[in-house]
Amino acid sequence: MGIRMDQVSFAYGEHMVLDHISLTVKSGDRIGIIGTSGCGKSTMLKLLSGLYASQSGRVEVEGETEITKIRQKVAMVMQNAMLLPVSIKENITCGHPMKEDCIQEAMEAAKLTEWIATLPDGMDTLVGERGNMISGGQAQRIAIARAIAKHASVVLLDEATSALDATTSEAVHMAIKNLTKGKTVLCVTHHMDNLINYDHIYRLEGGHLFDS
Ligand SMILES: Nc1ncnc2c1ncn2[C@@H]1O[C@H](COP(=O)(O)OP(=O)(O)OP(=O)(O)O)[C@@H](O)[C@H]1O
Ligand SMILES: [Mg+2]
Repeated sequence: MGIRMDQVSFAYGEHMVLDHISLTVKSGDRIGIIGTSGCGKSTMLKLLSGLYASQSGRVEVEGETEITKIRQKVAMVMQNAMLLPVSIKENITCGHPMKEDCIQEAMEAAKLTEWIATLPDGMDTLVGERGNMISGGQAQRIAIARAIAKHASVVLLDEATSALDATTSEAVHMAIKNLTKGKTVLCVTHHMDNLINYDHIYRLEGGHLFDS
């Protein structure tokens, strides 16, 4: 089923960001999206994740067009990882019952295991206002683990490893690749190296998508 955008437009007030965009992504394909800062990449992923509703045109993800249903099909690592002031574990599971090995697998893929082992409370360490202060890269890796643990059929990555050093970023991208076999993946990045072996790369410019 995959993803389909049909003549989708989106504006913030008067500012048109996406101008009649059409895109078809086959189920299981990996697509890269590149483009200069402010061109609308995050806006496009927010539409595909069901965070925003399209203002005109049609967005279909895994056969769903209602945003509440789309949200269930999609796991997204947002550009600015948002964590809740609960434990690391709850940030990964989002309160859903989950097998321990599923959580471990996600933590390993996001290269969290070593760091968490150094914390006195491990996965039960609280993050946020009342808990430990954590770095941007640690927050980003928790968000990646959350997306992997969701086991959604569509995975959207918005500069998902931008706060990580080059070696960790590469390792995380490799792990994501292994764990998302057969899933539909859209990856927004400023680093083409992250898109090696992707099925197709598009460039977003002036509200339009171009082959790259
Ligand atoms: N909530 C908002 N309200 C008003 N304008 C917004 C909002 N979010 C984004 N914009 C504007 O819409 C345009 C597209 O933003 P978007 O975040 O989609 O860009 P982007 O391609 O993801 O950029 P970057 O590479 O810097 O992350 C920008 O000009 C931005 O200023
Ligand atoms: Mg962005």
